[in-house]
Parts: sequence; structure tokens; C-alpha cells
Amino acid sequence: PADLYAPHRRNSAGLDFSDRAAMADLAVEMGCAFGRGGPRKAGPIIGGSLRTRTGEAVRSPRDTAAEVGRVTWAGEQEVEESLAAAHAAWPAWEGTRAETRARLLEKVADLYEQHRAELMALCVDEAGRTLRDAHAEVREAVDFCRYYAWQARRQLDRPVVLPGPTGEHNELTLHGRGVFACISPWNFPLAIFTGQVAAALVAGNAVVAKPAEQASLTATRAVALMHQAGIPRQVLHCLPGSGDLLGPALVRDRRVAGVVFTGSVETARRIHQDLAGREGPIVPLIAETGGINAMIVDSTALHEQVVADIVRSAFLSAGQRCSALRLLCVQEDVAEPLLHILQGAMDTLVVGDPRWLATDVGPVIDAEALEGLRSHHTRMQGMGRVIHRAPVSGDCEQGLYMPPTLYRLERPEELDREVFGPMLHVVRWRSGELEDLVDRINALGYGLTLGLHSRIAGAAQQVRRRARVGNLYINRDMVGAVVGTQPFGGEGLSGTGFKAGGPHYLLRFVSERVATFNT
Ligand code: NAD
Ligand code: ALA
Repeated sequence: PADLYAPHRRNSAGLDFSDRAAMADLAVEMGCAFGRGGPRKAGPIIGGSLRTRTGEAVRSPRDTAAEVGRVTWAGEQEVEESLAAAHAAWPAWEGTRAETRARLLEKVADLYEQHRAELMALCVDEAGRTLRDAHAEVREAVDFCRYYAWQARRQLDRPVVLPGPTGEHNELTLHGRGVFACISPWNFPLAIFTGQVAAALVAGNAVVAKPAEQASLTATRAVALMHQAGIPRQVLHCLPGSGDLLGPALVRDRRVAGVVFTGSVETARRIHQDLAGREGPIVPLIAETGGINAMIVDSTALHEQVVADIVRSAFLSAGQRCSALRLLCVQEDVAEPLLHILQGAMDTLVVGDPRWLATDVGPVIDAEALEGLRSHHTRMQGMGRVIHRAPVSGDCEQGLYMPPTLYRLERPEELDREVFGPMLHVVRWRSGELEDLVDRINALGYGLTLGLHSRIAGAAQQVRRRARVGNLYINRDMVGAVVGTQPFGGEGLSGTGFKAGGPHYLLRFVSERVATFNT
């Protein structure tokens, strides 16, 4: 239906970070939120009850000496209990109207907005998100809830009557599938976690959510708010814990009727294999994974604008966005001046504590990630490929900070995996090679985001026709897709689709049934 796409809705409100009064209010709210409520706790939530023992310390990536909460990990016993409860509760939930489920999601959105500062503080403390990122994160989570509620009303409660030559009355209806396992990454600890769960729930599924280990505090709080909003406690369960342990236990269980996963390609493959090898029904896997995302800049591009867009795309969120720019392809004629301006811009980035308003680039998520990025740097350095490194603020010794760095590559193919941090690789191309360049980017096998900066008439459509990519951005940056307006997700190694925040996403969470009445 046409109203599937119609913009009769609003996204959540933004915040002007240059407005001093608004920032003063935020500082007060956040200041309270950072210390509120004593030590934060994460743990399995089954049937609405949070199970915690002494637990393990949660250390902040901004300062690994800072304990920001404690987490009790779920084990196989909790997998069994949560699946049993979800499976038993599902039929009644599936039997409710989508309208009822949509209203509950809207209440979740309202509660998230009321708890904005607290949720932001969690994202900052636990995952090292900067204040701007954390604010955008709450907005995106709110938008997912409202958007999927809106789509559910339009798509799920109305049977589609299918006229045709048979003379019968045919009706197509959509139904929740059963229990969905929602497995999420740490890099959007609130937004992606919420988006998966919200879509699965509103489509009429029960949910067992498995957040990333590094996002357990945020997920635990999010689920508590969802229950507070009225999502039935037996319908939504949460299992913080090891992916290696809980992931296979969940995915291989025949009571799981679908899996939605966002994370690395490697884990997606493991889940695919686990699903293929298990007994029981054949079920869908919705997988959204990484990318080797490129930006193509030709000689007509406006340097100052391009540089601002490169910096934002490659280095914000410390490069820890699946959408982030990894491979900058600059036309040779303009490479020298452009890279010169870029290095200057990198030096103005504030790399430091994510609680500071001025910070542009926060820490990376954990010691293992930092180690991986350092070893990439050492390898590139050994090959003489470092062009430039930005400075890191002096008082960051306790945290997991990685300076934004620029590397030179000879060929795009040298970047053969996703480097998930603030590291940008540059290749040069020559006039007349544009189509070949797009083919070579396609051949890397991923297909998430691609940027193009060009003022040549026809270049955008030329690239658009050729590029096998989920989200193409022309003459702008490549991050921050807006729910409902820029549905997000990739193809090839980057994911299965359908796109999160798009009009077809909920359809992946339902079964279609047709009833034919010979009246
Ligand atoms: P990851 O694959 O390491 O982990 C993701 C989740 O899978 C975690 O909850 C983890 O515990 C779980 N897991 C681990 N092993 C498992 C197994 N065997 N079975 C089931 N679940 C298992 O990814 P990450 O490091 O948390 O996230 C970063 C990655 O996510 C990057 O590659 C990034 O590009 C990607 N990402 C993609 C999108 C997108 O929309 N395309 C969005 C955000 C992040
Ligand atoms: N949806 C996120 C972005 O567009 C990943 O940056």
C-alpha cells in the first residue's frame, strides 16, 4: 500500500550541541545520571526477574580502572528457562492485535525519552560512546520503536484480499513465527539491541535477546524499561553472556523460530552453520554484518566539504560503525592537496574521554579490539604505509584510545578485511578508471555503504547502476542513516536484508498464510 512509504510520522527530536543552555541542562541531567542509583547491575532477566549474584566488574573503555557496574553472566540453564517461558507465552502474544503491540512499543519509546540521560550515561560509560553518539543512539532506539509500531499497524492487522480468476475469496494474513533469538553487537548498545527486539515483538514473536557481552548493562536497563512499558514479562527475556556459549545453545534449539543477528561476518557464518545443522523447522536468519566501505572522490569534488565528510565517516564513533569509511579512493590529480587538508582536519579532532562535550573520538571498545588495531598499525608501519596519525589528548593513559590514522595502499584489494576502528586507507585512481574502480570495490565482496563525491553530471547514476551496495551516499558523509528515511543494511558479505528501519523489515519476522474460501 502507498501509505507504507508515506511520511505521516516524525522522528525523535534532535539536540543542538552548540546551544549553551541546552548543554547546561544536559550536563545536569547527565551528571545526576552518571552517579544515579548506586552500582549498576546486569544479569539474566527471565520472566521479568533480574538474576544477579556478585558478578564480574564492568570496566569502562574510557578508563579501565573505573568499575561502572557488575554483570552476572547467563549460562545454559538460563537458555533453557528463557526458551521454555518464551515458547509457552508466545501463542497468547501472537493472538493479540498488532495495534495492541504497537501501543506498547510506543510506550517503550516514551519511557526511553524520559530516561534519556540515564540511557546516554550507560552508553558512554559502558561502551565509550561520545555524548553526541549516545544522544543519537537514544534517538535511533526511539525511532525504531515508533517506526515499527507504525509499520505494524499498517501491515499486520489487515488481511490482504486477493481477487483473481478462481471466483473464490482469498485472504493473505501475516503471523508471528514463534520465539526469535535477537543477537546484537556492542557498537550500538542501545539502538540495534532495541531495533531487533522491537521488530520481533511487534511482529508477534516472543524474544530471547542475547546482547553483546560489552553492552550488558545497557541491554539489562533497556529490557527493564520495556517490561515497565507493559511488554509481557514472559514474552521478552534477556541473556547477557558469552556468545560462544549462549549463541549456539540458542540457535540450535528447535524452539527458536527465527534469528536476527547483527555483528561480524564470521559470527554470521557460524550461526548459519548452526541453523543448517540443527533438527526441527527451517527458519529465517536475518544477518546484518560488516563492510569494507569505500568513498570515491573525483577531481571535481569540493575539497573542504569532502574532507569534513571523510572525517565524519571514518573517525567519528572511533570508526566503530559498520557504515564507517575504510577505503578512500581519490582521483590522482587532486590527491596531494586533498590529503594535505585531511591531515590538518585530523589534527583538530579531540580524541579523549567520551564524557567531555568537546570529544569527537572516544575509546575503542576493549583491550582485544585495541590490540587488533595496534597490530594492524604495526604491520602497516612495517610496510612504510603510514601517512599520518592524529594526536591523542594527554590524560588518556588509562583508557583504550587509538589515534585516528591514515594509511596508503597500492591497490583496494590490499584491504582484505574490515578494520573496525579509526583507521582510514587511501588509494589513488586515474581518470577513465571509475567503472573499473567500482567493479574492484564490488569484488571485495561486501556491499554495505559507498560514498561518491563528484560534481560531474551523470557520475552519480553511473556509479549507482554499477555498485552492489546497500546504502549509497552522494556528496555527503556515509554514516547516520535515519530510521524510516534511509533504511539501512547491506548485501553480499554485508548482510541478508531486509533493511532495518525500512518498510519491508517486519516482513522478515512473520509467516504468510493464505486462506481460500469457496463460498
Ligand atoms: P560479533 O560478531 O563479535 O558479536 C555479535 C554478537 O554475536 C554478540 O552478541 C556475540 O556475543 C554474539 N556471538 C558471538 N559468537 C556467537 C555464536 N557462535 N553464535 C551466536 N552468537 C554469537 O560482533 P561485534 O564485535 O559485537 O560487532 C561488531 C561487528 O558488527 C562489526 O563487524 C560491524 O561491522 C558489525 N555491525 C553491523 C551492522 C549492520 O547493520 N550491518 C551494525 C552494527 C555492527
Ligand atoms: N545505521 C548506522 C549508520 O548509518 C550504522 O551509521
